[in-house]
Amino acid sequence: MTAGFQPPVYPYERLAGARAKADAHEGGIVDLSVGTPCDPPPPSAVAALSTSGAERGYPMSVGSARYRGAARGWLARRFGVEVAADNVAACIGTKELVATLPQWLRLRSPDRDTVLHPAVAYPTYEMGAILAGCRSVAVPVDDHWQLDLSAVAEADADRALALWVNSPANPTGALQDLSAATAWGRARGVPVLSDECYAELTWEGRPRTILEGGLEGVVAVHSLSKGFNLAGLRAGFYAGDPDLVRYLSEVRKHAGMLVAGPVQAAAAVALDDDGHASAQRERYRQRLERFRSILAAVRVRASMPAGGLYLWVPAPGDEEPATRSWAFTERLAADGGVLVSPGDLYGSQGAGYVRIALVQPMERLDLVARRLGVG
Ligand SMILES: Cc1ncc(COP(=O)(O)O)c(C=O)c1O
Repeated sequence: MTAGFQPPVYPYERLAGARAKADAHEGGIVDLSVGTPCDPPPPSAVAALSTSGAERGYPMSVGSARYRGAARGWLARRFGVEVAADNVAACIGTKELVATLPQWLRLRSPDRDTVLHPAVAYPTYEMGAILAGCRSVAVPVDDHWQLDLSAVAEADADRALALWVNSPANPTGALQDLSAATAWGRARGVPVLSDECYAELTWEGRPRTILEGGLEGVVAVHSLSKGFNLAGLRAGFYAGDPDLVRYLSEVRKHAGMLVAGPVQAAAAVALDDDGHASAQRERYRQRLERFRSILAAVRVRASMPAGGLYLWVPAPGDEEPATRSWAFTERLAADGGVLVSPGDLYGSQGAGYVRIALVQPMERLDLVARRLGVG
């Protein structure tokens, strides 16, 4: 029998050694590796979980009228874009959408087999291609972490099922030129999938969506996980090109991709709550600033990201880039009891950096400062 697919080690499981070092500190680990929220969601959303009555019957795969309405209202208030109800659909958190989309696109366009994604990125873009038996092609990013679309070979563009963009980007925090991506995709007939799950956390300028340039050939992907602290519920939605959204929502209905009814009810309540989102933004902004000052005190320079909840920090030292990232990760774990992620978990071009997710309360960041002797 020939060897089949073997799932690789999950990226964060590679941190077991550093995790043990950090956890050995009195007071335990301060885990800033995974971007998992620690703050409360809107209380009204949590209450809606037990009062909607939506647990009894099967929920609609595409999303209830109430959920899609809340998503449309949020898109209109946040970005000033009007999207018709038929052009919005639910997903079970966005990771599952990112991971499964290539297989649905491949079924529709069997003559294409390639997924394009940023070279320094959320690893699931590549994994989605692998799970669909497709090729993934990493699009290089420039010195400012901007996608360099001029580097995509036309032969790869001809085979592309889709191009992923992510703005604000994980892990770098960079804002991308969404109009340039749209123009590139439209010129080549390649759908552009814009992962905008950090849009609520935009620090430079106002939040942007790819939908501002019209729906043709683009799909925006949004998550309730980060801006609303509802990662445990698993709720997201996608909106955009009428033909693509119709196809995806139909095929996903056949596959039984259903967001639980009470989750849809709660997510709709959360999307209506602009006050919660702005309080959450302020928490992240303060933590990003606090951790920058802790790093500055140990003579490591980190800039404020343009968006998102991560610091993307050059690892100090003279070793080659990947060694530097891992050595700095180990040092922060050993000396500060804090776990961060080496940059090469997000692609080899990320080597030489570490990503720090500001997902712990201020008192835990203060504890790291004291352990490092700069508190
Ligand atoms: C860029 C990006 N996209 C998508 C996701 C998935 O989020 P969720 O599945 O919670 O919606 C994450 C989570 O970290 C992310 O960083």
